[in-house]
Amino acid sequence: MKVTVVGAGNVGATCADVLASREIANEIILLDIKEGFAEGKALDIWQTAPINLYDSRTIGSTNDYAMTKDSDVVVITSGLPRKPGMSRDDLIATNAGIVKTVTENVIKYSPNAIIVVVSNPLDVMTYCAYLNAKTDSKKVFGMAGVLDTARYRAFLATELNVSPKDIQAVLMGGHGDTMVPLPRYTTVAGIPVTELISEEKLNEIIERTKFGGGEIVKLLGTSAWYAPGAAAAQMVEAIVRDQKRIFPVCAWLTGEYGLKDIYLGVPVVLGKNGIERIIELDLNDAEKALLSESAEAVKSVMDVLDNMNATA
Ligand code: NAI
Ligand code: 2OP
Repeated sequence: MKVTVVGAGNVGATCADVLASREIANEIILLDIKEGFAEGKALDIWQTAPINLYDSRTIGSTNDYAMTKDSDVVVITSGLPRKPGMSRDDLIATNAGIVKTVTENVIKYSPNAIIVVVSNPLDVMTYCAYLNAKTDSKKVFGMAGVLDTARYRAFLATELNVSPKDIQAVLMGGHGDTMVPLPRYTTVAGIPVTELISEEKLNEIIERTKFGGGEIVKLLGTSAWYAPGAAAAQMVEAIVRDQKRIFPVCAWLTGEYGLKDIYLGVPVVLGKNGIERIIELDLNDAEKALLSESAEAVKSVMDVLDNMNATA
């Protein structure tokens, strides 16, 4: 299996490192526009192979898409990250230009590739990749929910003092402050989380999750990379190993949850064909209202992109 990661920055290099060290792909192309940057990161990652005992090969490229030819999966992480005070949406104009060019180049050399978008603002950049890839929507989707649920699960694990492995959760909606963690679908080794934690504490954790990205931006001055890189790699693993894993994924909706023509986080089955199925949960009225609020927030940024394209 051949996987390309575009953008050798914090998230891209971390993703490539996880793909290599866990032997998720045997060939990993790490590509960046900055001269020598991807080659340097790839060489450093490859030099961990004798230490970490694996043989997946990571190769760097400065913007040479011919090297990405016939990739099975492409992860797009190229673009600016947030600085303190910026929202993910502030990144739209710059990152849309980057994601458009990158997607066109990727598809030229790998017309059948499955594309996993990471660049922000996530839901709208995934839409941007879909518009420019001109391929099946089941093969173009975004990573956000795996990260956001990981944050939610990690906070719960800390609070309950249990292993994060035992916490399962569903989170829906856009990758922003309107994301919708779902306590009704959160369990700890099968036990409904509401039996183990007070409502007040759970609400605090939900609020912290919604602003989990911003919490790290404030601490580091840039956005997170370990969990985002690992989350993208986990999605790639589900695809290349045809695992049929259920993850919250930013997917193109065609009527599911009463929503259409929008990219939004929903639970899906991921396998070798990309999104194999969107799972429709029977949401209650309060959950539906939160999802619809989140959809409106995403749609308003999608409209910004559509208007930019219309006037370009
Ligand atoms: P970074 O600045 O460390 O890396 C970005 C890389 O993209 C840079 O090395 C840059 O040279 C490269 N790049 C820029 N234009 C390019 C082009 N046209 N072609 C190829 N490479 C190009 O940023 P970081 O921290 O890796 O974040 C990357 C993106 O991922 C940001 O937009 C960030 O907001 C987003 N992000 C999304 C998350 C999610 O949950 N979806 C989580 C964390 C970050
Ligand atoms: C994050 O959630 C900023 O989207 C990035 O960490």
